[in-house]
Amino acid sequence: IPTDIEIAFDPTVLLEVTFPEPGASPIGLTAGVQLLRNATAGPPTFGILVNESQSIPSGPFVVATIDPDAPTPQQPTNAQIRHFLGGDFTLGPVGPDGVAPLTNSTPAISEFRQPTPPAGSDAHRYIFLLFKQSDAFENQTLVNSTTSISGFNISQFAEAVGLGDPLGGTFMLVAPAPTAS
Ligand SMILES: *[C@@H]1O[C@H](CO)[C@@H](O)[C@H](O)[C@H]1NC(C)=O
Ligand SMILES: *[C@@H]1O[C@H](CO)[C@@H](O)[C@H](O)[C@H]1NC(C)=O
Ligand SMILES: *[C@@H]1O[C@H](CO)[C@@H](O)[C@H](O)[C@H]1NC(C)=O
Ligand SMILES: *[C@@H]1O[C@H](CO)[C@@H](O)[C@H](O)[C@H]1NC(C)=O
Repeated sequence: IPTDIEIAFDPTVLLEVTFPEPGASPIGLTAGVQLLRNATAGPPTFGILVNESQSIPSGPFVVATIDPDAPTPQQPTNAQIRHFLGGDFTLGPVGPDGVAPLTNSTPAISEFRQPTPPAGSDAHRYIFLLFKQSDAFENQTLVNSTTSISGFNISQFAEAVGLGDPLGGTFMLVAPAPTAS
């Protein structure tokens, strides 16, 4: 996980992020993979790769997705962009692939937004973080569905609502879509 978002990253679980692809196999992220923008419409699904010998903390969980590179990695004056923020994720039974799905029963605070790095920008990083949900998160009033998605600060938010350090995370790169010619 990139270190410039001021998050202490010492993961205890493997967060799996999967993008559904119409008419094709879903894409599971490997950390740092670059995807074509048109493969990232989402919304992605989340899960935890469960190792038999490992105890998974009980939920609920919070998932956040941020872009620290808007509008460009060189001058991220709008960063961070909040591409997803949702709570009340709970773990389902482990599937044959060893992944326990994370599903939520309530609307997200910020529903997933597809990456849209502007033409001419280098690829942006999109960072997915999994937190154990805090009591204070449930009644937080800092962010709602109408709050601007730009100028977000995940480390500040996590601290303000007592989320602590993330349990896991991953990231992908997405470059601007090629312009039609
Ligand atoms: C995305 O765009 C590329 C080329 O720009 C194309 O080859 C591919 O089929 C597209 N994928 C989807 C899911 O539309
Ligand atoms: C959150 O709000 C609900 C409803 O007002 C209340 O029952 C609950 O105790 C609050 N939780 C915390 C952690 O403040
Ligand atoms: C949503 O949050 C904004 C601040 O980002 C605040 O001004 C607004 O009153 C909040 N709306 C609701 C319905 O709480
Ligand atoms: C986010 O907030 C932290 C303090 O919690 C601060 O150190 C950092 O510079 C902020 N990052 C951005 C991108 O504003």
